[in-house]
This record gives sequence, C-alpha cells and structure tokens, in this order.
Amino acid sequence: MSEQMEYGSFEAAAEKSRAMEADIPVHPERYRVLTGDRPTGRLHIGHYFGSLQNRARLARLGVTTYIVIADYQVLTDRETFEAIAENTRELTIDYIASGIIPGPNTHIFPHSHVPELNQLLLPFLTLVTNAELNRNPTVKEEIAASGMKNITAGMYTYPVHQAADILFCKGNTVPVGKDQLPHLELTRVIARRFNERFAAGKPVFPEPQALLSAAPTILGLDGGQKMSKSRNNAIMLCSTGDETAALLKKAKTDSDRLITYDPEKRPEVSNLLLIASLCTGEAPAAIAARIGDQGSGALKRLVTETLNEYLRPIRAERIRLEADPVYIKSVLISGIESARAVAIDTLTEVRAAMHMEL
Ligand code: TRP
Repeated sequence: MSEQMEYGSFEAAAEKSRAMEADIPVHPERYRVLTGDRPTGRLHIGHYFGSLQNRARLARLGVTTYIVIADYQVLTDRETFEAIAENTRELTIDYIASGIIPGPNTHIFPHSHVPELNQLLLPFLTLVTNAELNRNPTVKEEIAASGMKNITAGMYTYPVHQAADILFCKGNTVPVGKDQLPHLELTRVIARRFNERFAAGKPVFPEPQALLSAAPTILGLDGGQKMSKSRNNAIMLCSTGDETAALLKKAKTDSDRLITYDPEKRPEVSNLLLIASLCTGEAPAAIAARIGDQGSGALKRLVTETLNEYLRPIRAERIRLEADPVYIKSVLISGIESARAVAIDTLTEVRAAMHMEL
C-alpha cells in the first residue's frame, strides 16, 4: 500500500453528516442506509432515543434501509455464543416495536446467513495493512477494556468485515455513534482502493459517510456513565411500567429541592429532565421550571409517568411480537433473501473487476 491511511477528525465527519441530514428529505432516493448492532441483549431507552428512533424516521422518509445483525462480530469480544440466536430475535422485536417496519424497502438480517457478503472479506483484507488495523482507535479501546491478553485476528479484522457489511449493498449512509467513525474511515479506504486497483474508471463501491445522531447521550440512572445494561443502570424497552417506576425511584439525584437543568453541575437531575424532554418534546429547562422546588421525588414521578406513557405503545407491540415467533422468523428470512440477492449481484461485479470470472 503506497499511502498509509489516517483515522480522520470528528469535525470533518460531523460536517458531512449535517449536509447529508439536510439533503435526505429532499432526495431520499439517493441514499441507501446500512446500519446495525451486535446481538448482545435487549435494547434500552438510550438505544431508542440515540439510534432506533432515527432509523425509523429515515425509513419513513423512504430511504432504503438495511439493518445488519452482526452475529459474527459478537465472537470478537466475548466467549459466550449460546445466546446469539435468542438475542437476534429480541433485537428484531426491539427494532419492529420501535417503528422500523420490515417491508420492500426495509430489511433486517443476520450477516452470518449471507455468504456472499462474508466472501467480500477476502479481497478486502488484501487492501489494508496490519499497521492500519493496529492503529484503529476503537479497536484499541475495546482491547484495553476487555482485559484480554491474547487478541485474536478476529478482533483486529472485524472492522474489515464491517466494511463488507456496509459495501455489500453499496450502502452510502451509515447512522452510527462517534465510536464507529474509525470503521467508516476504513470502509472508505477499502472502497477507494478497490475502485482504484481493480475497477479504474468504473467504480464498484461508493465511499459511505456516517450520519451522526443529533440526540444527546442518555446517562445511566447512576448519573455518571452512559446507560448500559451491563452496568445495571438502564431502563429497558421491555421493562414493565412498574419495573420502570421502581428503577426511577432508586435513580441517583441530589439534595437540592429546586429542580434546574444544568448538565455540567447536576448531571443526574439533568439526565432525568432530558428523558422527560425526549418523550414530550418540551425543553428540559421548561420541565424543570414547572417542577420548581418540589424536589427530586416530584421529578421522578413526572419522569416515570411521561416515560411509561411514551413507551406504552412500544411495549404493547413488543408483547404482541414476543407471542408471534413465526412472524419474527419470517422477517429475518425475508431480510436474508433480500440481502443475498444484492450480495450476489455485488460479488458478481467484484469477481468481474478482479478478473475471476470463468
Ligand atoms: N460495530 C457495530 C457496533 O458495535 C455493529 C455493526 C456491525 C455495524 N456491522 C455494522 C454498524 C455496519 C454499522 C454498520 O455497534
């Protein structure tokens, strides 16, 4: 590889994202969304307000959307795999209940079932250097966080596989969080090098851009950290109204009875105000003003009521879907069929470009 890639700046990505965001409603047909998750468990309200709601909105705007359930990727950072199938079903239920409705333009599929997608990994691996993979900041953080002593090749190469997830359907728009930007950068490098090396003059792949969520991050109920099931500080989409009330009752706050919105100095109280605000559309400061000096008990009651009301239809839909495993399976089977159809076309083009046709 002549020129080593750089993992680029957040500002550059944010600017491209804003421009795309403005253009999508005008030209939805120019965009093809590909995004996804590792099936590691059920989703919480942080996922909902941070990404699911946005995906549902994009699909409603008429943008063709592929959602990859990255089951192979689960193997990169954990040893347990027994729950993958169950987590795949639960993830699918969370998606649909959140308004991502499968249909002719919206496809949900696990990537392990799409062989032609996975096969793209092989040529792609020849387009990046070990040094580039070693420098990926997100992978470095994951390795540090995992405490693993022996790092598998799967860990270093999963971002290349993620490029296959994105490029198999020629996705050009990838709604993700900031931590995924290095993987997007790598995906663009792979697309560019493939086009230059094998397809000069007739590019096969687009150079996909990240669509960064405008939603502020929801903290866990312990205030300090991001909401996360493993930290036990999350409100799950599948929780009942009573469970939600009990969780919020225990949520950390402070002893100042006057409720104000001040994310810097009062992160816990402000986070609860933010949750209520995301449900009603009212500004957090306005909600705080209404509560005034009634203290955190009143704040918690208001958040409980507002959130439970907001989640009621999503939870009802979840329960309905839980009772219909045949439908959930059929959604995944149709998703796999659609994904395979495009993956076969792309692989055919890739083979032709690489002079591997018979
Ligand atoms: N790496 C992503 C995560 O951990 C999941 C993922 C896999 C993904 N393939 C993708 C995200 C393709 C966007 C596009 O959340």
